[in-house]
Amino acid sequence: MTALSKHGGGSRLAPATSLVLAVLLTACQPGPPVPPPSSESPASPSTSAAVPSGPAGSAPAAPTTAPAAPTAPAAVHFTAQGDIGLGTGAREVLDTISSLRPELSLALGDFSYEAGREHEFCDMVTGKLGGDFPYQVVTGNHESDGHDGDIANIVGCLPNRLPGLQGEYGIQWYADYPERAPLVRFIMVSPGIRFHDGNTLDYSRGSERWRWTAAALDGARSRKIPWTVVGMHTPCLSVGKYECQAGRDFTNLLIDKKADLVLTGHDHNYQRTHQLGRGQGCPALVPDTFSGGCLTDSDSAMVKGSGTVFATVGTGGVGLYEVNDQDPEAPYFAAWSGKNRDAALGTLDVTATADRLSARFVPAAGYTFTDSFEIGRK
Ligand SMILES: [Fe+2]
Repeated sequence: MTALSKHGGGSRLAPATSLVLAVLLTACQPGPPVPPPSSESPASPSTSAAVPSGPAGSAPAAPTTAPAAPTAPAAVHFTAQGDIGLGTGAREVLDTISSLRPELSLALGDFSYEAGREHEFCDMVTGKLGGDFPYQVVTGNHESDGHDGDIANIVGCLPNRLPGLQGEYGIQWYADYPERAPLVRFIMVSPGIRFHDGNTLDYSRGSERWRWTAAALDGARSRKIPWTVVGMHTPCLSVGKYECQAGRDFTNLLIDKKADLVLTGHDHNYQRTHQLGRGQGCPALVPDTFSGGCLTDSDSAMVKGSGTVFATVGTGGVGLYEVNDQDPEAPYFAAWSGKNRDAALGTLDVTATADRLSARFVPAAGYTFTDSFEIGRK
């Protein structure tokens, strides 16, 4: 920086030197990194952040080459977690997310756990991940009715960053990512939690929200988007504290529509099922019981379309709950961790390519539990 200030504006420098200094100056600025100048035509501002550039170190295109048509990115990389809070654990998990360098993170509800501190929560997130980072929220029960914070305030200070998003951000929305040539449709919904009027939203069979969810899953299929990831605060199956708050019928809808991965929070632990599906041996998934016919694939390398994997990732920072090995639903689960067993805060780290969805639980610093699974095309 000393050399730069000595040269002032650099107006008398040769162009090549000016360019080097400009890059150095940019690198010295505080705040989010600025992309280097490119010889290629810029993508539209709304999608440029969503489309990764080519491999590091690849040669720039020759000046005479016509601009290439947009190509599908090789992979989409995101994290997901809920139940965060404002404590040390929340900061440690955000550090973990930051170190993974995902393109976006799904925040599955329960943020500040205290009214009036929503902005503090947002500042914590943006301080760790950057002001423009897509930290994509859906409400938890602590802020849906306003009594421990208000989802409207969270949406105000952590607004949507995904272009083309449909629906009501923070409550019920979907977005295809990247917007052009998408690999994943993210669908976020809010069954089983109370809102300001004291009532839950209606996700009952045939309701408007039921049909919206079904259409979002069908739409991904008809657009040939490789993967569907559903996120919501409340789980159905659980070896933790809660019953099927997401609703039995609604959970069966997600299975019937072949959602690939369903992510939840609410239970402050990590729990991940095998692939579950309906068929002759499983007329319906029934909470609080186990039916072997609903297990469509029970190793860690699963086949797309055979069923749905459910993962609760309520490990975003707040105090953990226990898990119960003797829960009747336990045989549906491939992995779990909680306060009383392999306790770990952390995040689910997911990479999706056209052919493969790979996920692993990444523990925050000081924890050791992990889990991994893959869903591949036949
Ligand atoms: Fe929670």
